[in-house]
Amino acid sequence: MRLPDPSAADPALFDPLGPEFTRNPYPAYARLRALNTPYYFAPFDIWLFARFADVQAAALNPLSLRSLDDRLTPEEIEADRRAQNWHDMPYHARFVQFSLLNSDGAMHQRLRRLVFGEFTPPQVERLKSGVEAYVSDLFDAVGSEFDFINDLAVHVPGRVIGRFLGVPDADCAQLRIWSEDIVQYFDIDRTDARKALAERTTRTFYDYLIDLSNERRKRPQDDLISRLLRRWDAGELSEDEYISTCMLILMAGHGSTIDAMGNGLTALLNHPEQLQRLRADPGLMPTAIQEMFRYDAPLPFFHRLASEDMDVNGWEIPKGTKIGLLYASANRDPEAFDNADRFEIGRTPNRHLAFAAGPHFCLGNHLSRMNMEATFMTLLSRFQSIALTAEPQFKPSLSLRGPKALPLRVN
Ligand code: HEM
Repeated sequence: MRLPDPSAADPALFDPLGPEFTRNPYPAYARLRALNTPYYFAPFDIWLFARFADVQAAALNPLSLRSLDDRLTPEEIEADRRAQNWHDMPYHARFVQFSLLNSDGAMHQRLRRLVFGEFTPPQVERLKSGVEAYVSDLFDAVGSEFDFINDLAVHVPGRVIGRFLGVPDADCAQLRIWSEDIVQYFDIDRTDARKALAERTTRTFYDYLIDLSNERRKRPQDDLISRLLRRWDAGELSEDEYISTCMLILMAGHGSTIDAMGNGLTALLNHPEQLQRLRADPGLMPTAIQEMFRYDAPLPFFHRLASEDMDVNGWEIPKGTKIGLLYASANRDPEAFDNADRFEIGRTPNRHLAFAAGPHFCLGNHLSRMNMEATFMTLLSRFQSIALTAEPQFKPSLSLRGPKALPLRVN
């Protein structure tokens, strides 16, 4: 099947920065799925795939890549960066625009293999008791009224990833702020002020990592930074690859985990019968956490580029086409999930796409689920009653989804 005429796409159908979408994006995703064709979204010059089968096929297709840079001339790369307002950002270009997430093929496999073993369930399990103790301390410090996002969730992933990499505890809060300032530039809102902030912060982050690496070189520890440094010194990865891998790991799991916690708690509080069920049977926690990811994915959208003319679930996609994978929409597709709009904490199987599929499948999925389990187990065991004191407001974004705050009253 050929893609429809892009000029026929109704711009009113999809407004990802509008207030309705920000409050609840799922009716808009349902409209896109109902088209039965991919939808051309002009502001990004991208074809959005909203149905599960299309999104999964595009993510698994070996011809759909994260970047076509190695097939372009330097002039074409420059023109592409200018079109996206991603030019004149030397640090951002070296360490953020380039990373294992944004590479493909043999280079991607090599970079992924360097860190893959760090993220396996046994490695993650080693961190578990430390995370549980840390989360417990955080709950000790809150009163009967607190903001679940800003008083609690924001402190969890940074500290855990910091320990995982080997960043001193005292620096973790700062890294979260840097991460946010850099990551926000991946979204639709690309003003020059945001651009300057992203570039300046990437440079600061780079300087910080170089200082920390020099320190670790003198006194190696049992952490990922020390192990990656040895591989850099052995010539297995370059300085740029070393820095971009550290930055990616520090940034990828920060906001996404905070948002996953916020979305998960919102879903539980909006479904009191499911909350009761989880309290009655905490053994359901692993499937409940997976359902939180399916029901309201914190990273709803990623892109791919067609490296050749290709077939995606029957769609003829011409070489060079930009494709948007709407993971959050795929997760609510009734053709893939029974009662797809129902939040069902015992759901099995639950083959959602919140962590993607294919070669870029999220490395941090065990780690983030462990953080979530520790946080929700403690929350439910500490408080018999949990109530929101104000309606949650969500951040306006296509790439991220999460509440700005979740003010709670507990006892
Ligand atoms: C909490 C929620 C998280 C969600 C929803 C999430 C989701 C994702 C998704 C959808 C991708 C694939 C992007 C694509 O399709 O191109 C991805 C990749 C990745 N994630 Fe996560 N992630 C989470 C947490 C984490 C954590 C905690 C870490 C590490 C500490 C992490 C590290 C990575 C890395 C390194 C990649 C790149 C993998 C590759 O390109 O081969 N993520 N994540």
